[in-house]
Amino acid sequence: MRIPLSFGTLASLLVVAFLSFPSARATSAVHALMKQQGCFVCHAVDAKIVGPAYAWVAYHYRGDKTAVLHLADKIIHGGVGVWNPWTGGIPMPPHPNLTLAQAEAMARWVLARKPIAPPKP
Ligand code: HEC
Repeated sequence: MRIPLSFGTLASLLVVAFLSFPSARATSAVHALMKQQGCFVCHAVDAKIVGPAYAWVAYHYRGDKTAVLHLADKIIHGGVGVWNPWTGGIPMPPHPNLTLAQAEAMARWVLARKPIAPPKP
């Protein structure tokens, strides 16, 4: 019986799978942690719930090199003020149980959403 895939094709498929799998797995681990921490109770990717849409956050901080740290700090300590016109002044609650690395991973996940300009409040 003839094997339809050449060794070369098979080898490059394996390389692609090997290169793409770890980062995809890391992304979904962050997503799972965010779900478990209740982030999606107040946030959706492309619509406001209680907090701003993550796509608006990605738009607001595009090109801002300090955004990961600022957002990680806000995720851990909570805060208010940036999104008042859209939220009516509701604060983001603190999550002191998260490590800085976990909060930074969440911030990167949020910033990696496709940016959408927030509508006029
Ligand atoms: C009880 C509702 C609620 C929960 C739960 C919540 N948030 Fe928020 N979040 C908010 C509100 C309200 C704001 C707007 C704060 C502001 O105006 O500065 C916000 C803002 C943010 C911002 C933008 C901060 C900024 O300064 O621009 C990020 C990023 C964010 N939240 C991520 C998260 C993550 C990650 C979690 C889960 C660990 C989470 N939020 C859980 C309500 C919530």
